[in-house]
Amino acid sequence: MTTRFSCGALRAGDAGTSVELNGWVNRRRDHGGLIFVDLRDRDGITQVVFDPKHPSFKEAEHLRHEDVLRIVGTVRARPDGTENPQLATGAVEVGVDALEVLNRSQVPPFQINTEGDVDENLRLEYRYLDLRRPKLQRNIRMRHRIVKAMRDFFDAREFIEIETPMLIKSTPEGARDYLVPSRLHPGTFYALPQSPQLLKQISMISGFGRYMQIARCMRDEDLRADRQPEFTQVDVEMSFVSQEEVLETMESCIHHVWKSCLGVELAPFPRLSHEEAMNRFGLDKPDMRFALELAHVNDVFAGTEFVVFKSVLDAAGKILALRYPGGASLSRRDFDALTEDAKQFGAKGMVWIALGSDGVKSSAAKFIGDDHLAKLREATGAETGDAILLFADARDVALAVAGKMRNLVGERCGLRDPKTYAFCWVLDFPYLEIDEETGVPMPAHHPFTSPGEDQWHLIETEPLKMRAQHYDMVLNGFELGSGSIRIHKPELQRKIFEMLGMTPEQIEDRFGFFVRALEYGAPPHGGMALGVDRIVMLACGEENIREVIAFPKNQVGRDLMMDAPTPVPERLLRDLYLESTAPEDASDR
Ligand code: AMO
Repeated sequence: MTTRFSCGALRAGDAGTSVELNGWVNRRRDHGGLIFVDLRDRDGITQVVFDPKHPSFKEAEHLRHEDVLRIVGTVRARPDGTENPQLATGAVEVGVDALEVLNRSQVPPFQINTEGDVDENLRLEYRYLDLRRPKLQRNIRMRHRIVKAMRDFFDAREFIEIETPMLIKSTPEGARDYLVPSRLHPGTFYALPQSPQLLKQISMISGFGRYMQIARCMRDEDLRADRQPEFTQVDVEMSFVSQEEVLETMESCIHHVWKSCLGVELAPFPRLSHEEAMNRFGLDKPDMRFALELAHVNDVFAGTEFVVFKSVLDAAGKILALRYPGGASLSRRDFDALTEDAKQFGAKGMVWIALGSDGVKSSAAKFIGDDHLAKLREATGAETGDAILLFADARDVALAVAGKMRNLVGERCGLRDPKTYAFCWVLDFPYLEIDEETGVPMPAHHPFTSPGEDQWHLIETEPLKMRAQHYDMVLNGFELGSGSIRIHKPELQRKIFEMLGMTPEQIEDRFGFFVRALEYGAPPHGGMALGVDRIVMLACGEENIREVIAFPKNQVGRDLMMDAPTPVPERLLRDLYLESTAPEDASDR
């Protein structure tokens, strides 16, 4: 009797068994008169051997990488000394009794059976082949396990998964909406959800109490290594909860995921206020894997003659110092390159000091005296052999630049080990942030977030000082997720919309349905969403979320496999009452 096995299943104890194997030709080797084929499927690789005396041998001579085979054969122990301990099936091979070529493959545009580097656009064009490679097989399976662990966790805590619609009303949450024209209602549009924010809040108003969803979200925003136009959140909302209960729930979920999927027992996450995170690390998503902290050194330079520092001090800006361990060995050219990096991050310039054992060098040597040096060493903890980098600017710019340079220095010094998981919570965000592009104050989270209970009075007088009940979970310098306690009273929700400059008509037009829902006994509620792609990326030790998404868009938002987006026939546009005004070559951009 012949039994079907996967290509990862056979062991020494199966010798003598008649088996059927199905899979792809991972590799073919001809030697010693025999043909060896490594047959691969989702489970592993098994070596099958064609004997020249057997009728299948002739056909085996023509087998190529990625051909699809079914073989029937007999398991036998590999001859002494030819076992492969790297392979789970490495103690055995299968002598072929029958070969069926189920399908042929063209020569693949890149090697499937190695982890070697391949141009990413080529990988994305032939994503089905890329996905056959070992790394992506591992990553996509890890993604499945992580999502399942999340669902199990929330199910055990009696959350229910509610699917929310993909075609909703355009209620921008910060990014640009993707719009879908309606054929039945000419001239009108649905939007694809940037997140299910309002729907999950409404599910609280509907009495479900504990909602979760593995939710697809769509945002038309500039792409980065940790951003895709469509992405997935584990989206959560709870009624009658405190901020503390939301934090406990989300942190426990992550503890469960790391333990069950990575076998890692996490310690409780440290907590920082937003202000503390900014002051110590310069960013609201601090990389806590390494200790280098920013030193605030305005005092050190009080009375300085150095015009750059003096003007910053006069304008109540900030001078920040960062230790670069071992940085004294850098050349002038290296420091110039670092200064360019700082400029890329928004700095006007950077002052460096190299604390060499043969003396101190600096880009502002004239203005750095022994007294400055002693104080800077003390403030930064820098020692001989290190360098000190100085950033002077308006507070926000100085912090942002120094924070990004801190990450860069951490990277260069090998302090950012991808196998170390340094989580933290950042709490107490300001309600409003000045939008970098428009200069207009915008909610740091979204306008459904509640200010701190004792903060409402600031709304009329000093709204920029108002703090929000908004919290972020951060891992290794990445924002994993954000959440907040929400506003549940309609009159307070209106007040926030008004603070943001919306007229009563605009409020009614955009959010009338939502404010009305709040008017029918909305319970106090709060929640959070974690980015699944980012979590899987970090759990897999990847640096780009495209490595953990089966079918991602490329860096400029194109699907290279399906070739999307593409123009559509005029007729389809006419059905939707649309006309394209795009220039002929616009789609190439
Ligand atoms: P927020 O907009 O902060 O909050 O998103 C939550 C998390 O989703 C992930 N994320 C992304 N991942 C990949 N590509 C993107 N373009 C992208 N944008 C966001 C991040 C982020 O931290 N509705 C609120 C949550 C709430 O208040 O409950 C929201 O969506 O990991």
